[in-house]
Amino acid sequence: MNARAAPPHLQPPVQPNLQPRVLPASPLAFLWHYVCARPWHFTGLFLLIVGAASCAVAVQYGMKLLVDAMAAGARLWAQVWFPLALFLGLIVVENVLWRLGGWLGCRTVVASCVDIRVDLFRHLTGHPMRYFNQHFAGALANRISALGGAAGAIYGGLAWKILPPVVDFLGAVLVLLTVDWRMALALIGFVLLVAALITAFGVRGRTRHQRFAEQSARVGGEIVDAVSNVWTIKAFSARERESQRLSREIAREAQAQRSSWMYLEKARVLHDICLTLMAGGMLVWAIHLWLEGNVSAGDVVLVSALTFRILHGSRDLALALVDSTQQIGAIADTLAIINQPHALDDPQAPLQLAEGRIDIERIHFAYPERDALFADFSLQIPAGQRVGIVGASGSGKSTLISLLQRLDDVQAGSIRIDGQDIRSVSQDSLREKIAVVPQETALFNRSILENIRYGRPEASDEEVYRAARQAFCDAFIRELPEGYQTLVGERGVMLSGGQRQRLGIARAFLKDAPILILDEATSALDTQAEAEIQAALAQLVQGRTVLAVAHRLSTLGGFERIVVLQDGVLVEDGPPQQLLRGDGVFSRLWRLQTDAATPPASAG
Ligand SMILES: Nc1ncnc2c1ncn2[C@@H]1O[C@H](COP(=O)(O)OP(=O)(O)OP(=O)(O)O)[C@@H](O)[C@H]1O
Ligand SMILES: [Mg+2]
Repeated sequence: MNARAAPPHLQPPVQPNLQPRVLPASPLAFLWHYVCARPWHFTGLFLLIVGAASCAVAVQYGMKLLVDAMAAGARLWAQVWFPLALFLGLIVVENVLWRLGGWLGCRTVVASCVDIRVDLFRHLTGHPMRYFNQHFAGALANRISALGGAAGAIYGGLAWKILPPVVDFLGAVLVLLTVDWRMALALIGFVLLVAALITAFGVRGRTRHQRFAEQSARVGGEIVDAVSNVWTIKAFSARERESQRLSREIAREAQAQRSSWMYLEKARVLHDICLTLMAGGMLVWAIHLWLEGNVSAGDVVLVSALTFRILHGSRDLALALVDSTQQIGAIADTLAIINQPHALDDPQAPLQLAEGRIDIERIHFAYPERDALFADFSLQIPAGQRVGIVGASGSGKSTLISLLQRLDDVQAGSIRIDGQDIRSVSQDSLREKIAVVPQETALFNRSILENIRYGRPEASDEEVYRAARQAFCDAFIRELPEGYQTLVGERGVMLSGGQRQRLGIARAFLKDAPILILDEATSALDTQAEAEIQAALAQLVQGRTVLAVAHRLSTLGGFERIVVLQDGVLVEDGPPQQLLRGDGVFSRLWRLQTDAATPPASAG
């Protein structure tokens, strides 16, 4: 019997950073989460910026002192040196603080954006396969990058465009109190009014910005989809058709973009009108007071400098606020898509695999919005048994395999491995025990060495070479210009189908898992290569529980059991010799495929 325990290297220590972390769902809570992750950095940044902005206000006051000293009558150096030194000193301190803030802000914002993207990617890959079937891969990738950018823009906007004008404003109020309290009061009233107006305006525009973000993600996804299907486009002379289709999508995006952008322009106009009125009013008021002899010339300089500063800063502020609401709209949109709770839970307990017995019990499964594929389907596979799965295209073979890997959950019934429901153990521990050679081996655009090593990251180069020799790919790899370091292109396009498949088999050799699943592992091979691979596979299947899907029945020769699927129903089950004696699906298929009916070798 097969009593392989997984070798120790297949049970890596649980990495704490891979534990599911729940990310906040609302954009503001999400952004705050990453501020709390670096409290000292953000506090330091806050203090530096408040300090720098305060100095900037104090500089205006220094200027007032200087003007007053100069206007005092006597033209003496003794009268001006102190205000001058104060003025210059404040400018130096202000600039030092700004630069320190820039240095710290750069480190903090960049690091937070790194965390955000890594966390989102980790969360994204935890979604079940059906999620990826429903979303454009390119759009998801764009979204993660864009969300990192949007969060960075908000943190940066907060630090450089929102916080400084707020400090300016508070400082200006304090300073104006020394001139005339009514002016301070007027400034407060005016700025509150403008802030309320612009914010209300910004919030009302959010749906437009969101629509633009959605549409632009869609266009990104469409382009990626088209580019990755460029072979089909060429083969069907569809370049013109695809361009037109894309231009329609882009036109829709442009419409959304114009609407979002024009909305911002309107906000700018509103702001300009308000602030011109305010700055003009304050200056006239200050000159009026000066004419009456109530304030000094320095005070007039101070009032006008401060109002212009506020005018300038509040334009930044208003735009940054509107910008931020736009970014927040985009973040909300992305979080709603990527940050959904995972449809499959991921318990902590690892799968305890002793033998590799598989029990599929009365499962029910339907793809979303499709009729049930499996209804009350059961299959027991004792440990160490080699089972061939046969069935027409679309009968559910690949689906059964993906259910076994828990790429999706059954809607009723259960799948158990060595008595443990696969829903009760961690997904990674389950998949560690199952090596799959899929119907289409997809490769990363990395070196061949790395691609094979994907089966077991800690394997040495020598072990990789051995796996490659076992899968009969060592020879062709060494003939490539860069041997094992050759890059294979996106999804492995620079290799032939048969070569890709052999790399997939090498991966499975390297992974050395107790349960082996072959989904038409030899379909892309010529007869010669297939014979070689058959020999390799015969070695690979030793001592493992094996499920092998095959259209070419000859490849199932050495198997002790065949199950035949038809539209998700198990119609035949037994040793191949027994099935061949009857007149069922298997024996009919067999007769079709073998002119000279060579009976399969008896099972071992
Ligand atoms: N992601 C999906 N969403 C919806 N339906 C799907 C999805 N994948 C497969 N199906 C449907 O489920 C049925 C079974 O598909 P499956 O891939 O399991 O068949 P198969 O037996 O592996 O076929 P083949 O021999 O062609 O590989 C098919 O009718 C297919 O259209
Ligand atoms: Mg299939």
